[in-house]
Amino acid sequence: MHHSWISGIGSAHPKGIVTNEELAKKIAQHGAETNDQWIRERTGICERRISSLKEDERNSSLGLRASLEAMEMANIQPQDIDLILYATCSPDTLVPSTACWLQKKLGALQAGALDLNAACSGFVYGLHLADQMIKTGAHKTILVIGGEVLSPYLNWGDRTSSILFGDGAGAAVVQRTHSDQSSRLFSTHVGSDGNLWDLFYIPAGGSNQEVTPEVYERQEHKMKMKGREIFKVACNTLATYAKKAIESNEFSVEDVDWIVPHQANLRIIENVAKKLNVPMDKVIVNVDRFGNTSAATVPTAFAEAVKTGKIKRGDLVLFDVFGAGLTYGSALLRW
Ligand SMILES: CC(C)(COP(=O)(O)OP(=O)(O)OC[C@H]1O[C@@H](n2cnc3c(N)ncnc32)[C@H](O)[C@@H]1OP(=O)(O)O)[C@@H](O)C(=O)NCCC(=O)NCCS
Repeated sequence: MHHSWISGIGSAHPKGIVTNEELAKKIAQHGAETNDQWIRERTGICERRISSLKEDERNSSLGLRASLEAMEMANIQPQDIDLILYATCSPDTLVPSTACWLQKKLGALQAGALDLNAACSGFVYGLHLADQMIKTGAHKTILVIGGEVLSPYLNWGDRTSSILFGDGAGAAVVQRTHSDQSSRLFSTHVGSDGNLWDLFYIPAGGSNQEVTPEVYERQEHKMKMKGREIFKVACNTLATYAKKAIESNEFSVEDVDWIVPHQANLRIIENVAKKLNVPMDKVIVNVDRFGNTSAATVPTAFAEAVKTGKIKRGDLVLFDVFGAGLTYGSALLRW
């Protein structure tokens, strides 16, 4: 059986920075009230990047920049890619897939291309699929992207959800390992509970409800969230899936060099670190500068930590995620 490894990683964000103060003004224009202090204290977020929605900041365009960076690190060409898995819940278009838009922009015409939607857990779900496909020998070089432009789905009049999110994309080249290398993906675990669908959803725009003028008026084509309920489930499942990853590979928590958790709220991250008894200096955080970029949080935070030299080849790294669905997952790898 083959094993897989991440041979390259990259990230991209829109240029436009929106600070909490600027966001508070926008939210006020939509009839709600918030402020920098509340957002910082309750979420740890100071600013986020919001797409201009112009061609160079569409989801697949951010995915392109992230992919080119990952491919350069992996030293591969577009024709080497045999599959593109694009994890997103905010596609460029419903049809064709964002993966196909990216394939066109990359010129990776030998590759199969598809989107997968596991919301914020999508990147780990993508790694899960890529790892299995490499293990079976079906594919050799897979591009896994977690990318989102969720800003058009935010209801700026809802101060509990619109303060949390930002746009961005991260990409990883997943390949078959060479026989003697230590860098490899040890395991991936995924799970979900569809009974918890109403904690975070977009009511209209699918077969449940088409977008009519009345639906538009009620903003039901925008995100709805029960933040407090998600908070509790997230803390528990993140701890459970971190333990699953570590124990199933017979490592101990102390063996893990870095945890890269889903970046939804600094308080959730700190709560999970405490539950796992891991000091915060082993936890990668970028939610302060980018907010929750959904499927993009883990690959962008990981790429940034690799680029700045914090995470080094040979380090044991844990990815730990949750998202709408609800969905959950973790991955353990030797970088
Ligand atoms: C949304 C979230 C930040 C709210 O933080 P919280 O500490 O749970 O805050 P609460 O919902 O208990 O609200 C506390 C108070 O602040 C108010 N409030 C909510 N949002 C506010 C805002 N942006 N600005 C100012 N006040 C706000 C509430 O109305 C409430 O007021 P009250 O006490 O008078 O009723 C937090 O629950 C969270 O991050 N949850 C997880 C969400 C998530 O991860 N979603 C993505 C899933 S992938």
